[in-house]
Amino acid sequence: MLQKILDLRKQLHEHNYNYYVLHAPTISDFDFDKLLAQLQQLEQAHPEYADPNSPTQRVGNDMDEQFVHEAHSYPMLSLANSYSTGEVEEFDARARKILDVEHITYTCELKYDGVAISLRYTNGALTRALTRGDGVQGDNITANARTIRSIPTQLHGNFPPELEIRGEVCMPRAKFAQFNEQRVEAGEQAFANPRNAAAGSLKLQNSALVAKRPLEAFMYYLPAHQPSDSHFENLEIARSWGFNVPPVAQKCTSLSEIYNYITLWNEKRHTLPFDIDGIVIKVDSITQQQELGFTAKIPRWAIAYKFKAEEARTQLISVDFQVGRTGAVTPVANLQPVQLAGTVVKRASLYNGDQLAQLDLHAGDYVFIEKGGEIIPKITRVDTQSRSLFAEKVEFITHCPECGAELVREAGEAVWYCPNSDNCAPQIKGRIEHFVGRKAMNIGLAEATIEQLFNAGLIHNYADLYTLTFEKLISLDRFGEKSAQNLLQSIEDSKKVPFYKVLFAIGVRHVGETTAKTVAKRYPSIEQISAASIMDLEAIPEVGSKIAESIKQFTKNSKNQERIERLRSYGVQLEVSEHEQTNNAIVSTALEGKTIVISGVFAHHSRDELKNIIETHGGKNASGVSKNTTFLLAGEGIGPGKLEKAQQLGVPIVSEEEFMRLIDN
Ligand code: IVH
Repeated sequence: MLQKILDLRKQLHEHNYNYYVLHAPTISDFDFDKLLAQLQQLEQAHPEYADPNSPTQRVGNDMDEQFVHEAHSYPMLSLANSYSTGEVEEFDARARKILDVEHITYTCELKYDGVAISLRYTNGALTRALTRGDGVQGDNITANARTIRSIPTQLHGNFPPELEIRGEVCMPRAKFAQFNEQRVEAGEQAFANPRNAAAGSLKLQNSALVAKRPLEAFMYYLPAHQPSDSHFENLEIARSWGFNVPPVAQKCTSLSEIYNYITLWNEKRHTLPFDIDGIVIKVDSITQQQELGFTAKIPRWAIAYKFKAEEARTQLISVDFQVGRTGAVTPVANLQPVQLAGTVVKRASLYNGDQLAQLDLHAGDYVFIEKGGEIIPKITRVDTQSRSLFAEKVEFITHCPECGAELVREAGEAVWYCPNSDNCAPQIKGRIEHFVGRKAMNIGLAEATIEQLFNAGLIHNYADLYTLTFEKLISLDRFGEKSAQNLLQSIEDSKKVPFYKVLFAIGVRHVGETTAKTVAKRYPSIEQISAASIMDLEAIPEVGSKIAESIKQFTKNSKNQERIERLRSYGVQLEVSEHEQTNNAIVSTALEGKTIVISGVFAHHSRDELKNIIETHGGKNASGVSKNTTFLLAGEGIGPGKLEKAQQLGVPIVSEEEFMRLIDN
């Protein structure tokens, strides 16, 4: 019986490979399913022959798993980026100098825009899959990796008994669009791009859910046990073992061949079913690679050439002016739908009046849009050549489109505001939305429900939330006993939310989460904050005159005072509790005088935990990289903008591991 099971597994592995890697199936889906069902039956009858790598296990399992961090056998490094042929030329010159040779043969390949993964095979069976993590340690996501059909769980051919291979997990563009649509329909948040969707999927702690995500893995690197001295050959051999290696890598023996490859794929990248963000140029000879070696972060034998952000041209239909919770008015362009980097774009943000003026936008203009990792793309420039002679300039509005109040603008600010904050519906609703947010009072209340409660006249400001009763809620459409109780419980729980979050929740203009924390540390109650002068407030690190004035204005306002008194009467925390005071106490001065920027996802701590660690060790958190930044604490998927800025300014980049060592010392 075991032999029969092994035979079936072998056949099915082979068919998977033909289908997912070679894209050349040799049997019908129907016949495949028949074989799979047969194997399933046999495995059920013989649990003693179970194997996690069996083709039947591709559907994942329904158990929630916590990821375990494990050390990489070989560090998982990144690549140096280049953006011009000049930089590629310099890279080649440097490598030739070190190797002392006239010419180098390179392999050029695609730079897949996904999430890095490292796979280990023992005697041909997939035994471990790790994420990059901090490059030294990663999350063990083997159960998730097994659900990705293009990752072989069993190799064939002449593979080495121990094998480590690296690659990238991506979500093909078309599948991403479909998947995102389904999410939005289900009321879930859309992913910004296929890369984020792939990253989010790999982090799911239930492999049965991962199995439903349309992921694909591309392999590009053997850190050891290379069968050939040529990287190009190694890719071919890896394909023969069952790995998904797109057959488009090319050996190049001159810079001009490399440039041709770059041009070719820059033009053809839209024809690929998945996103690439550049190409990778690697010294082909493994011996030469070893001679060139690595720096602490990157190999000296490879460089990435990054493509410019994708751009599309389309026509402006109209400009809407949206009013946010602070009254800030944002212009948003409605566009003739156009395909850009895998999605259809219909809207673009224009940020503020200055930007609108700078673009000199006219009705019906043709504009260029770009996506910079954000969900909403931006208009980068206008095609003035094709502007119609009689087109009228798009002017910023003078009155609020929601309530009609005249807009105001503070000296030196780019943003126009509607000052009618107490009677302008989107501001009222927006403030309540902000108040209930996860990082604020964490009350489980969706935007649509806020709208419903507001329209029913039950809430006019956030203090009113605490007057909601079961009877009031149950009389509304779509409210059942359970949902009414849940909401009331969630409101009750919010009374335990610590003061600094309340300070953030009440919506003082310019006071974000970090500022609220800093202010609450210096003045641990709302009375003390209200009693502080502008000068007192300005003396708090990172609180400038703009924030200080805004706090003063807020606490002076009688309506705000009344609301705060109401919150107090309902039992909301308006001062730092003793417990918090001891918890947030400074534990060391290891980071005194250091300003640290955090970016990315970390293997061992959440970002909030790291921020807390920084503060309790005397350091300061900052959101943007500047020349004042002491170092950038970088995790997986670090924002490319931050990384580049840090590299430009020579700001050191520190991993989670290095950071923890710094604290321990
Ligand atoms: S080679 C030691 N090849 O891009 C060098 N990386 O920005 C290992 N990537 O860390 C990397 N496509 O996650 C290599 N064809 C390719 C790649 C590739 C995408 C990723 C990889 C790398 C990152 C650097």
